Amino acid sequence: MKDIILYGSHYGSARRYAEKLSEQTGVPTVSYKDTPALSDRKTIVYLGGLYAGGVLGLIKTLHGFSLQEGQKLLLVTVGLADPDEPENQDNIRASLQRQLSAELLNRAKIFHLRGGIDYQKLSFAHRTMMKLLYQSLRRIPLEKQTAENRAFIETYGKQVDFTNFEALEPIIHEIQR
Ligand SMILES: Cc1cc2nc3c(=O)[nH]c(=O)nc-3n(C[C@H](O)[C@H](O)[C@H](O)COP(=O)(O)O)c2cc1C
Repeated sequence: MKDIILYGSHYGSARRYAEKLSEQTGVPTVSYKDTPALSDRKTIVYLGGLYAGGVLGLIKTLHGFSLQEGQKLLLVTVGLADPDEPENQDNIRASLQRQLSAELLNRAKIFHLRGGIDYQKLSFAHRTMMKLLYQSLRRIPLEKQTAENRAFIETYGKQVDFTNFEALEPIIHEIQR
């Protein structure tokens, strides 16, 4: 049985983390869009960009899938919000509960990484979504915003990149365990 690293990425942050992880572990990586078979894998690592709380491609990839004895699932979210803020982690975990069965979620090892955003490169649909969100959040005073929304307002319209490959260390350790 071989290991595999899957990624779901619109703008490259999750893909770059997946490629770095692949380089450092020797485990091959593919986009979730290539729909590789998962039943004969030992360790499955899924890295996906966060879009409105959802992990890109996760539902499609793990729909109807259950882990067999000896199989391991590492789930890695890549988002803009700082995962060191407990409130942000709670939000991500709550939305993972809506995307995965309780059984998979209980057995998965979950990690959170930070990606980036370049508003110039967003698709029209994504730019519109972000604009609507920004307009609705701007009406709330800054001190009443959640940490996630404050970070969103501060970075709106800009190009930011919080990618940190050193944060892959605990994931590499878990793959090699
Ligand atoms: C429409 C849209 C929705 C987003 N929603 C979230 C979110 O809910 N939480 C978060 O932390 N980041 C969110 N982001 C930021 C992305 O997760 C971030 O840009 C990430 O690096 C994207 O990964 P990718 O480049 O691999 O697609 C959103 C970005 C866009 C454009």
